[in-house]
Amino acid sequence: MTDTFREDLLSGKVAFAAGASSGINLQVARRYAEAGAKLFMISRSDDKIQAAAQGLRDDGLEATGMACDVRDFGALMAAFSACRDKYGAIDIVLSGAAGNFLSPALGMSANAFKTVVDIDLLGTFNVFRASFEFLNAPGASLTAITAPQAVNAMPMQVHACAAKAGVNMVVKCLAMEWGPGGIRVNGVSPGPIGGTEGMERLAPNKEMAEASKGRIPLRDWGTKDDIADACLWLASDAANYVTGAIINVDGGVELGDAAMDLTKVEIRK
Ligand code: HXC
Repeated sequence: MTDTFREDLLSGKVAFAAGASSGINLQVARRYAEAGAKLFMISRSDDKIQAAAQGLRDDGLEATGMACDVRDFGALMAAFSACRDKYGAIDIVLSGAAGNFLSPALGMSANAFKTVVDIDLLGTFNVFRASFEFLNAPGASLTAITAPQAVNAMPMQVHACAAKAGVNMVVKCLAMEWGPGGIRVNGVSPGPIGGTEGMERLAPNKEMAEASKGRIPLRDWGTKDDIADACLWLASDAANYVTGAIINVDGGVELGDAAMDLTKVEIRK
């Protein structure tokens, strides 16, 4: 993909990104702004989101930060209202706020399970539901960040798997209900992405990281740019006829465990 592809793709559009103070979501938000969108970004921590927005402005991009917890519907309505007041009706919404930790079900309280479901699943519903009256529709594009765990069960991840499975269904149900109004709703499912807090939690040492890469069909982790480019495409008019899709950007992770060493397999001539 060339920079020419990205340039001006979102020129004149307004983007709202939730959970955008760091990691994958910050890179997606940056990509929206680099492509010409005016960007309004939120996260739980005021310090972190102000620092992230300032970083983008330092690079000459248009970005405003505001503290907002996606579990708080009223606060989200206020944030969308502030975004519209500043930039106009909203064309692009990213729902990426997520929480996760490794824990067996038996080490998890009901509140621990609920906390992750509240951030990931309820949070995604809240972001999209609250956005509705502020959207520039027809033509708006909503994208949720989901995960392969939405369809692949994993030990120590009952909370995140259940939450992300729900996120996929929020995407599909809203795509059906809001399609007639010209609102597209999609998901992007990142596999293991290097340099993220998520992978630091899920593969905290070199041994676990190498083992993880050995199970992936493409044999490596992805980059934040891989996810940002997929989200850019979904947000753009180039994806005009795409809705209800979960786009896997995961090196083939969702296909299953590809740990077999194919170099050791004897091929019949
Ligand atoms: C068991 C745990 C725990 C752990 C927290 N809890 N960590 N239980 N093992 N390691 C429990 C607490 O004891 C508490 O239950 C409940 O969870 C809520 O914890 P709080 O700290 O009060 O909640 P909060 O401050 O809202 O923090 C949310 C959080 C935290 C998810 C627990 O880790 C967080 O803020 N995460 C945000 C950053 C993050 O996770 N980034 C990674 C995202 S990557 P009790 O019963 O004691 O009250 C990602 C990729 C997803 O999500 C890919 C896979 C799907």
